[in-house]
Amino acid sequence: MTTTTPSPESDPASQSAERAPGRTYLSVLDLTPSELEAVLALAARLKEERALGPEAPTARALTGHSLALLFDKPSLRTRTGFEIAMRELGGNVTCPPSTDALGTREALADVARTLERWVSVAAIRTFEQSRLQEFVDATTRLSVVNALTNEEHPCQALADCLTIAERRGSVRGRTLAYVGDGNNVATSLTHAAATLGMHLRLASPEGYQLPESTLVAARARGAAPVEIVQLTDPAEAVEGADAVYTDVWTSMGQEAESSRRMEAFDGYRITSALMERAGPDAFFMHCLPAHRGEEVDADVLDGPRSAVFDQAENRLHTQKALLLTMLG
Ligand code: CP
Repeated sequence: MTTTTPSPESDPASQSAERAPGRTYLSVLDLTPSELEAVLALAARLKEERALGPEAPTARALTGHSLALLFDKPSLRTRTGFEIAMRELGGNVTCPPSTDALGTREALADVARTLERWVSVAAIRTFEQSRLQEFVDATTRLSVVNALTNEEHPCQALADCLTIAERRGSVRGRTLAYVGDGNNVATSLTHAAATLGMHLRLASPEGYQLPESTLVAARARGAAPVEIVQLTDPAEAVEGADAVYTDVWTSMGQEAESSRRMEAFDGYRITSALMERAGPDAFFMHCLPAHRGEEVDADVLDGPRSAVFDQAENRLHTQKALLLTMLG
């Protein structure tokens, strides 16, 4: 996890009460392998302890801290997960409308410099990753989480890894097949696989694959030898896999491309026949929201092999673990 560096124009010493430098989680690559494993282990513990309610050991861990949720795009799981997470850790949450916080009303840097006087952490969902970086560059004290950008979705990858670990005992050495768009979810899964030592086979149509630079960055992690490959054939990717993952073919902001994408992804739907090619007890994963009959058939999404609501539940536990790690 990286720490924000003071800049002369925002020197904390010249501002209000001194506080520890902020930490950032803009990418899975911001976590070392041991940090990522620790976040997942903490999330598993928090999941067990949740039944204790206000008696949980962490119920007041973030008292005195506030989280700002700044969302340029719709969200159920990420946004609500962060709200519940912060409250269950004893902290406060504020959700200024995106028109006020991320719109054209004032410079993004001024929003960051204002919020850092009040809150400890901001979770931001926006378009380009560069907007997130612009926000981070303006603050020294505020911790910042990527709640989804066009390029990456690192919070989703935490929940995905916890779900795989729960069902397979460990992520290391398992094989995940990702079939569909080489998008932000695929990027963060690639980073997580390379960090934790999971084999990943991605199958996407030509023109919709991850950029080679993403694979190069992931392989540079140098985790235990893992196979991370891009293919075009879904059946080849799925063969014998522990889990099969897909996401929507048209992400938020790409609506104008929808009909072209529907044509390009023809043949990439996850069907029960495709699931049969995976390992004997392979399970199905999707970050949600899903479009039944497009990227996945309803009998797979709603069937006994589906892990999608475990993934959704695990958004809460992993985001709690992330907040504790960043602010603890
Ligand atoms: N998977 C995911 O990020 O869900 P939301 O868009 O509902 O937050």
